[in-house]
Amino acid sequence: MKGKQVLLTGGTGGLGLGVTPAVLAQGAEVTIPYRSLKDVERLKGILSPADIARIQFLPANLQDEASVEQLISRMIRVDVLIHLVGGFSMGKTHEYSFDSWKHELELNLNTTFLTCKYSLKRMLENGYGRIVTVSSRAGVEPAGQLAAYSAAKAGVIALTKAIADETKGTNITANTVLPSVIDTPTNRQAMGAENADKWVKPESIAEVICFLASEAAKDVRGAAIPVYGNV
Ligand SMILES: NC(=O)c1ccc[n+]([C@@H]2O[C@H](COP(=O)([O-])OP(=O)(O)OC[C@H]3O[C@@H](n4cnc5c(N)ncnc54)[C@H](OP(=O)(O)O)[C@@H]3O)[C@@H](O)[C@H]2O)c1
Repeated sequence: MKGKQVLLTGGTGGLGLGVTPAVLAQGAEVTIPYRSLKDVERLKGILSPADIARIQFLPANLQDEASVEQLISRMIRVDVLIHLVGGFSMGKTHEYSFDSWKHELELNLNTTFLTCKYSLKRMLENGYGRIVTVSSRAGVEPAGQLAAYSAAKAGVIALTKAIADETKGTNITANTVLPSVIDTPTNRQAMGAENADKWVKPESIAEVICFLASEAAKDVRGAAIPVYGNV
């Protein structure tokens, strides 16, 4: 990814703490949209000043189409989109609110659609692109109390495969990764650290993402790659 312009959404989140340093280590120029300055500072805390200088932090709400369009118009090119943004809530279907259902779809599926849509326009103009989205094991193995999240993440797989099909015959690819439980600060806080050694590390998912985002992965299209660790 040396010299590539990378849009890395969710780069300040738990998974981002592993993916952002890995993408920078490949020599990329990175744009990270953010909402919370606290998370920006947490990320900066693990990076060198030279790495921080290669990141453009831009405020954006990826659930809003105008915000995504403006964000992407501020990039000089979009060679690579790595879309980590997403989120998770649980509840039995008969007790789950419709507002929560809509929020899960917005956060996981609609943000993926909007960032792919506007990145793809730029990639098609330039004749080059790598799109890597993040689904979840729940997208292929839906689980109880996770109907909304599972449906949204299944949608991310479908969207990514459809884009991969649309872009055949170009130097643009689209693929997705399916993490199980990731070893993030939030998960350690919520579930305790006792089983964390089984969870997949952000750095390990980052290796898979970086390959899919590289020039070398030019013939990998529409893959949905399980990255489950030992869960
Ligand atoms: N954690 C797991 O165990 C797990 C398992 C399977 C799949 N995944 C998937 O992996 C991805 C990353 O998860 P994570 O654990 O790193 O989540 P996270 O720590 O909650 O990070 C989410 C990131 O998304 C950003 N974000 C959320 N809504 C946004 C919006 N509307 N506009 C702009 N940015 C927004 C957040 O930025 P702000 O803080 O600034 O809002 C944050 O950087 C998600 O797609 C998740 O579904 C996670």
